[in-house]
Amino acid sequence: MAQQVRGVIARAKGEPVRIETITVPDPGPGEAVVKVQACGVCHTDLHYREGGINDDFPFLLGHEAAGVVESVGEGVTEVAPGDFVILNWRAVCGQCRACLRGRPQYCFDTHNAKQRMTLADGTELSPALGIGAFAEKTLVAAGQCTKVDPEASPAAAGLLGCGVMAGIGAAINTGNVGRGDSVAVIGCGGVGNAAVVGARLAGAATIIAVDIDDKKLQTAKGLGATHTVNSRATDPVEAVRELTGGNGADVVIEAVGRPETYEQAFYARDLAGTVVLVGVPTPEMRIELPLLDVFGRGGALKSSWYGDCLPSRDFPMLIDLYRQGRLDLDAFVTETIALEDVEKAFERMHHGDVLRSVVMF
Ligand code: APR
Ligand code: ZN
Ligand code: ZN
Repeated sequence: MAQQVRGVIARAKGEPVRIETITVPDPGPGEAVVKVQACGVCHTDLHYREGGINDDFPFLLGHEAAGVVESVGEGVTEVAPGDFVILNWRAVCGQCRACLRGRPQYCFDTHNAKQRMTLADGTELSPALGIGAFAEKTLVAAGQCTKVDPEASPAAAGLLGCGVMAGIGAAINTGNVGRGDSVAVIGCGGVGNAAVVGARLAGAATIIAVDIDDKKLQTAKGLGATHTVNSRATDPVEAVRELTGGNGADVVIEAVGRPETYEQAFYARDLAGTVVLVGVPTPEMRIELPLLDVFGRGGALKSSWYGDCLPSRDFPMLIDLYRQGRLDLDAFVTETIALEDVEKAFERMHHGDVLRSVVMF
């Protein structure tokens, strides 16, 4: 039987979100209904509300979540009722060209639930990133559920579903950071600080955190940065060079998404070093670089999307590290809040006060 639950809805561009009653249908073939336990507040949720992603209002926001599978539809073998899962926004198809060529991270045919959740008047909802987890329950494709150790805290586990995975994955998957490497991370919000953690996990010897906010640099230090640079006070390119024997870093991770930081990332890398771009630019942003510099420095320019993660491979592995005390996911949970407080959390995010606010159910 379809169920009525409370969810955080963005009705129209720029309007504050509000809580409404939504209807969650029973799971159909290949679908699951998940009882959400925790869901982090991410910039992408705010971008949806501001109309920056698409115009398919109304949105059911929330996508960094963990919870327990309540029921599954016909033919579902991936998960069963009672499983503790992290939700992911890329359930891969296994059959497209990208999947067949061993690059499921770039699957062309990722899928979400086929049925739609609705508002009381029957209006169909667009769930943020195909998840919609600022709700007591949500309907997803079974492939969007990744089963992990149920002993993990839901608040911490949910963060792996988006921002923290994006940062850790930028270091360990895209940047392929190796033992002894030097790594610079430009922008140490939730994503950049997760990249610091990823670099540390991968065995980097030098981890240079760059930000314009001393609070963020302090956090980075606590998470494993060996050096910090406030780029308001010091030229970050020169600072990174100086801290790496005049060379530049083996891997530079950009986690801001602005032209000036893209450019800094480009010049802060060592000869044959790798630049990993995680920060999402807006369509009008441009940089201009001398081609001779692109050519002359060698190495690689890579962008990292969702940390190039494979949820089924990376989520359980990172949760195991967390359970062993080798990965501090709790450090990313600045505050836990109620469903009613999402709008306030957007404001705090704007002021840069938090790494993550997490809604608890
Ligand atoms: N130089 C260095 N750091 C900067 C600069 C700058 N010019 N401008 C902003 N920052 C810092 C901020 O102080 C903040 O600590 O970048 C950080 C951005 O962090 P958040 O706002 O918390 O954003 P986050 O969630 O980490 O996402 C960062 O990655 O996935 C993308 O869409 C996401 O583009 C966004 C980026
Ligand atoms: Zn595919
Ligand atoms: Zn997100």
